Amino acid sequence: MPILVTGGCGYIGSHVVRQLSEAGLEVIVYDNLSTGSAEALVNGERLIVGELSDTEMLEQVFRAHSPKTVLHFAAAIVAPESVSDPLKYYGNNTCNTMNLLRTCVKFGVERFIFSSTAAVYGLPEEGVASEESPTVPINPMGPPNS
Ligand SMILES: NC(=O)c1ccc[n+]([C@@H]2O[C@H](COP(=O)([O-])OP(=O)(O)OC[C@H]3O[C@@H](n4cnc5c(N)ncnc54)[C@H](O)[C@@H]3O)[C@@H](O)[C@H]2O)c1
Repeated sequence: MPILVTGGCGYIGSHVVRQLSEAGLEVIVYDNLSTGSAEALVNGERLIVGELSDTEMLEQVFRAHSPKTVLHFAAAIVAPESVSDPLKYYGNNTCNTMNLLRTCVKFGVERFIFSSTAAVYGLPEEGVASEESPTVPINPMGPPNS
C-alpha cells in the first residue's frame, strides 16, 4: 500500500519522499506544483498533479490507491505574505488541511503526519523554542492550534 505525500514536490516534502523511496517504500505524491517542481522527485515516484481543495480528485486518488498513511506537506509558507493575504493562508493551510483530513477519515487512513511550522511559537522570550514552548504566533502562518 503506498504512502501518500501531499506537497511532495516542495522543499521538505521532496526530501521526505526521497528518504521513503530509498527505504524501499512505495510513495505517491499529490502536488499542484504551485511552488514545487516535478524534478524534485529523483527516484521516479508517481506524481499526481492535483489541488488539495479538489475533493473529487482527492477521493479518486484514495479510491484508486487506498493509502493508509498520509504525510501532509502541501501549504503556503511565506510569513510576510500570510500577513498581506491572510485569506489565502486560511484557505490553503486551514481549509485545505480540513478537506484532506475529512477525506482521510472517509477512506480509513490510519496514520497522518502534519508538518506544522515554527511560526506557531512566534518570538519565544528565551530565544529558542522547544516543543513545550507556548504557542504565541505573530502572523497568520502560525495559528495558535496548529
Ligand atoms: N521550510 C522549512 O524550513 C519548514 C520547516 C518546518 C516545517 N515546514 C512546513 O513544511 C511544509 C512544507 O514546507 P516547504 O518549505 O516544503 O514548502 P514548499 O513551498 O517548498 O512546498 C510546499 C509544496 O506544496 C505544494 N502545494 C501548496 N499548496 C498546494 C495545494 N493547495 N494543493 C496541492 N499542492 C500544494 C507546492 O506546490 C509545493 O510543492 C509547510 O507546512 C511548512 O510550514 C517548513
